Amino acid sequence: MHLLENPIRSDQLLEKTFDIEHRFYASSAQPMTLKELMEFTKENGDQHLIDLYHDHSMGYAENAGSPDLRQEIATLYDASISAENIVIFPGAQTGMTITTQALLHTGDHAIIITPSYQSLEEGVRYAGGSVTRISLTPEDKWQVNVDAVKAAIQNNTKYLVFNDPHNPSGSLMSADTKKQLVALAEQHGILIFSDEVYRLLEINPAERSASIAEMTANGLALGTMAKPWGAGGACIGWIACQDLTIIEKLQKAQHLFAVCFSRPGEIQAMMVIRASDKIIERNMKIIRENLILLDEFFDEYEDLFEWVPPQAGGTGFVNFKGPLTADEFGAKLLEQGILVFPPYIFDCDEALKQYFRIGFSRRTMPAALIAFKKFVDEHRAQWRYRK
Ligand SMILES: Cc1ncc(COP(=O)(O)O)c(C=O)c1O
Repeated sequence: MHLLENPIRSDQLLEKTFDIEHRFYASSAQPMTLKELMEFTKENGDQHLIDLYHDHSMGYAENAGSPDLRQEIATLYDASISAENIVIFPGAQTGMTITTQALLHTGDHAIIITPSYQSLEEGVRYAGGSVTRISLTPEDKWQVNVDAVKAAIQNNTKYLVFNDPHNPSGSLMSADTKKQLVALAEQHGILIFSDEVYRLLEINPAERSASIAEMTANGLALGTMAKPWGAGGACIGWIACQDLTIIEKLQKAQHLFAVCFSRPGEIQAMMVIRASDKIIERNMKIIRENLILLDEFFDEYEDLFEWVPPQAGGTGFVNFKGPLTADEFGAKLLEQGILVFPPYIFDCDEALKQYFRIGFSRRTMPAALIAFKKFVDEHRAQWRYRK
């Protein structure tokens, strides 16, 4: 498959809607300003990073990520992961795509849990792989059906891909399901690619299970500055993996696409991780306040929407019970300046065509909800009547 054969649908939609008034789809945490980051860093007593930011070499930084940043990222994991187990990429999307180029070959088979972020599947296809999709369902509370994964394994299955915490549903995979998938992968020599970009945004942190990189040498965990911390502009993503032969392959592949990363971005990423607790606390406060408003709204409008409160991340998948498909509903909202992500954006089963994604991690969400409510009120009687 050629690289340009399947454009990324979310990017196409976002290009067209750059100036839209209500970004009710947004998934990453409230973006930070550099000024706020500097304040967090000062409060944290990390003046040396501020000095480094103002006085660092503008020559090439180290390929695969500077050691100081890799060291800092390793602190997000348990003792099984150290700096040598981390490879840096320019954001998570690049990480997931380059990883498939490095590890898969024509004819390899991958199992992908859907609904999913499009690039997770496109990467496998660019690498010449085939894909079996297994859909999460609301009936199973968005939990992976391990028997279905088992049944999908072929002789050439090399890769199992999932996203946990899950975008769009906001669900968390149970620790038990994860353990069963790890056992299956180890038994069949399958690598697990776990997109964990929403990790650390659990509503109840006690529900956070181990990272796949901590659980098995077959596991690759994906992270990014964008989602938990609202620092996507630093353009830093990474893969954590215990297996150093995999790390070496990723470093080689990465070198083909980027000589190094922006050193200012790396230093910002170190500041972010060192102030992580405070930044996450700020971001979770926004999320919790927004979730209260959403719970109230969906309680009042349960004739038209089914809302399963999310467990983690910045997104929820809402069932629209009106007489339009969720794609049609999304198009009508767009005409009103309100952007949600309709199901066509995801690699998504037909059975989920009534679901659309909203985002609740931004301070702008309450205004988006007011506009959404106004639009729904204008049609509520008609939609209910026709149901
Ligand atoms: C599940 C998932 N993975 C990866 C990404 C990409 O992250 P980044 O912006 O760091 O490339 C996104 C962004 O929306 C996402 O939702």
